[in-house]
Amino acid sequence: MAAVESKFDPKDMIFRHLGPTGLKVSVLSLGGWLTYGGTQKGNIVKECLETAWNQGINFFDTAEVYANGQSEIEMGNALQELAWPRDEYVLSTKIFFGTGRKEPNTRGLSRKHVVEGLKSSLKRLQQPYVDIVLAHRPDVGTPMREIVEGFTQVIRNLNLAYYWGTSEWSAAQIMEATLIADKYNLIAPVVEQPQYNAFHRERFEVEYAPIFEQFKYGTTIWSPLASGMLTGKYNDGIPEDSRFATNKEFFANKIKELKSEKGQAEIAKVRELTKVAERLGGSTASLAIAWAIKNENVSTVILGASKPSQIEENCKALQLVPKLTPEVMEEIEKILDNKPAPVPDFGRKR
Ligand SMILES: NC(=O)c1ccc[n+]([C@@H]2O[C@H](COP(=O)([O-])OP(=O)(O)OC[C@H]3O[C@@H](n4cnc5c(N)ncnc54)[C@H](OP(=O)(O)O)[C@@H]3O)[C@@H](O)[C@H]2O)c1
Repeated sequence: MAAVESKFDPKDMIFRHLGPTGLKVSVLSLGGWLTYGGTQKGNIVKECLETAWNQGINFFDTAEVYANGQSEIEMGNALQELAWPRDEYVLSTKIFFGTGRKEPNTRGLSRKHVVEGLKSSLKRLQQPYVDIVLAHRPDVGTPMREIVEGFTQVIRNLNLAYYWGTSEWSAAQIMEATLIADKYNLIAPVVEQPQYNAFHRERFEVEYAPIFEQFKYGTTIWSPLASGMLTGKYNDGIPEDSRFATNKEFFANKIKELKSEKGQAEIAKVRELTKVAERLGGSTASLAIAWAIKNENVSTVILGASKPSQIEENCKALQLVPKLTPEVMEEIEKILDNKPAPVPDFGRKR
């Protein structure tokens, strides 16, 4: 048998451990929400994945619910065609919302749906396993012990995944799952997939602080550009082929908000961020992404992109990171004016 020929070139990419695990992920990754299988199908999906790979990105994210399963199908087809060695990339999917079917057991985190949902995802992806499977939301209707047992089963007994994580779980729910895993010799979750960007900070920076400190919990953060707001593309209205135009109903509230005082205040901040970005030699988008990378509790920033050129632009964030000195970060903090207050420590912090 011939030795496997390496196809991955890390270029200037930064790699971080996924939380407490030994798995290394590129600090920039690529996801398929609303894009792959949604607005984008066929060759362009492959081109986007290939562009990311050529920038040193080794991690790709999808979910059973994205485009009702079509995202997994499109990304799976692209991965087949690209034929990279399987041990050179990291793949995640998420289980919870199902694929739009109406039966009561084709969604949620019952042991039945965790196992069957993941098996169906893997068929769509044409993969024998994913590296990481995430619980796309907490399921308050399923006992936490059953949830932890379900994810332990897909990892330990069925070899369908190596690690499991959470998405938009509260810190209390993550703690509960971790402690149950410890108590019953089950596998604990290691990574959370939360929204985190310059306009959405509170939960990541305050609520999760104890799980970062106690468990070194990892994060794969989503919507780093607030769905495009932080590129400046919505400063003067809604461009025809943009996300807010192609997904009008989903973003109805956000579209309305653009004209409100809150929306206009955000746009004013984006304009100020653009000035900082230009001075540093980058784009507004790359600055917003570099700002997220600066937070060491971020294991990877999941990019979304409808075209390869966006991935190329957004990867330039890597060149901005060293330019974000404490002075520049302070300048950005003043512009954002939204730093969440930490939980008081009454002078007892070590
Ligand atoms: N766990 C969860 O609940 C959850 C939720 C959402 C997302 N996610 C994950 O996180 C990933 C990223 O989230 P996201 O797609 O919302 O990220 P985002 O970076 O906030 O938005 C990406 C979108 O912004 C636009 N864009 C990106 N770069 C641009 C650039 N340089 N110039 C102009 N427009 C640009 C593109 O849309 P247009 O070109 O169409 O305008 C692109 O699809 C998803 O794919 C998914 O894997 C997870």
